[in-house]
Amino acid sequence: MQVRADAVVLFGASGDLVRKKLIPAIYQLALAGRLGMPVIGVARSDWDDQRLRDHSRDVLTSAGPVDEAVFGEMAAALSMVVGDYSDPETYKMLADKLVDSVRPVFYLAIPPSVFQDVVEGLHSVGLAARGRVIVEKPFGRDRASARQLNNCLAAAFDQPDIFRIDHYLGKESVEGLLVFRFANTLLEPLWNRNYIASVQITMAEAFGTEGRAGFYDGVGAVRDVLQNHLLQVIALLAMEPPIADDADAYRDEELKVLKQIHPIDPATTTLGQYVGYLDEPGVKKDSTTETFVSTTLEIESWRWAGVPFHVRTGKCMPGGATEAVIELRRPPRLLFTGHDAALPDANLIRFRLGSNDGLTMTLQAKAPGIATITQSVDLNVDFAAALGHRQEAYERLLDDAMDGRRHRFAREDTIEQEWRIVEPILDHQERPSPYYRGTWGPQALEGTDDPWHPVSI
Ligand code: BG6
Repeated sequence: MQVRADAVVLFGASGDLVRKKLIPAIYQLALAGRLGMPVIGVARSDWDDQRLRDHSRDVLTSAGPVDEAVFGEMAAALSMVVGDYSDPETYKMLADKLVDSVRPVFYLAIPPSVFQDVVEGLHSVGLAARGRVIVEKPFGRDRASARQLNNCLAAAFDQPDIFRIDHYLGKESVEGLLVFRFANTLLEPLWNRNYIASVQITMAEAFGTEGRAGFYDGVGAVRDVLQNHLLQVIALLAMEPPIADDADAYRDEELKVLKQIHPIDPATTTLGQYVGYLDEPGVKKDSTTETFVSTTLEIESWRWAGVPFHVRTGKCMPGGATEAVIELRRPPRLLFTGHDAALPDANLIRFRLGSNDGLTMTLQAKAPGIATITQSVDLNVDFAAALGHRQEAYERLLDDAMDGRRHRFAREDTIEQEWRIVEPILDHQERPSPYYRGTWGPQALEGTDDPWHPVSI
């Protein structure tokens, strides 16, 4: 049994991630009665404790009603340490604040360029030896830098105390993929190349870089979401069942399937950049950063050989949707229909993984009328209606790391495999193809054999 953390330290407390995800997660933990420990923000910005409290209140009230008693408890737990990440004084101040803490958890919501300073700083004052660390994705910029980062972390923290976050692993809907596959006798026998024609994964966002262009321009869609979130979705859709419920059994299966994925072929990949991106503050004038990528992955295994896994993601798409569509093989012509009747359409299993999460199965029914022909009908379930309230990913993951549960975090070797898969399309020199906001990517896709089923936006 792991010891629950007794303090949370947020590096990058004045930043975007803390505002968008971590303050709401901490409030939710307080609401569930699972906080009860100091939360210390660390930042270079000159914020005092009250500023962090006011900021937290603004963040929460802008999202909805706030329970004053719970917020009072949370606000009392909040305090700040201000200092430069390369200054030893910062870590002395932090160590003073954590003098009574035996198991602090450190969240590095900071740019990768300062990871090393922070890890060494925590090590220098003895905090790393008794703490856990949560590192945001992307973990490194490629295989070599991921290894370097891992060595840097491993020099200060024990491996089981390193939590590499990929918040898609914390989404109930994403984790549910494994349950749908393996807890439903209806699905599992079909889950292979004999019955599945293709898998299509879309992560579309209607918005652009939303004030994070400075970060995004150094990253791009491949490093931001394909290398991590989308490959994790593929791993969950394609892997074999874990042989036990311990964290390594999960990650062993993920590793096996990731190892079976060929490196991405640049020839079947389209990179795009939306028109207007270059004018955004924080973006280099001649930036070649992609805001859209579409590609096809192949998995060399008995289960999946020959089944294309089409993947696409982009900013400024016509709408927001994250979903995986499993297209089954089309049945043959129904012998009791006329010779000229169309083939029945393929069955589709659509996993909606975003805010409208749920599942839709498209089946064939008899179309009304004299002829015995088919028409598509949907069986649909909305998880919010069927299952009620579910926790947000960051709340679950923060709680997991506080308790030392590692199932929902990525492992060093799975991350290295992810980098191996995307390596051929990293650091391209040429400008990605332009596309207009509100379209499904570059015109380069038009006229090609478009494999995509419409997404549910
Ligand atoms: C983040 C990316 O990891 O995931 C963002 O950095 C992206 O660019 C976000 O917008 C999407 O997360 P979600 O949970 O809204 O699908």
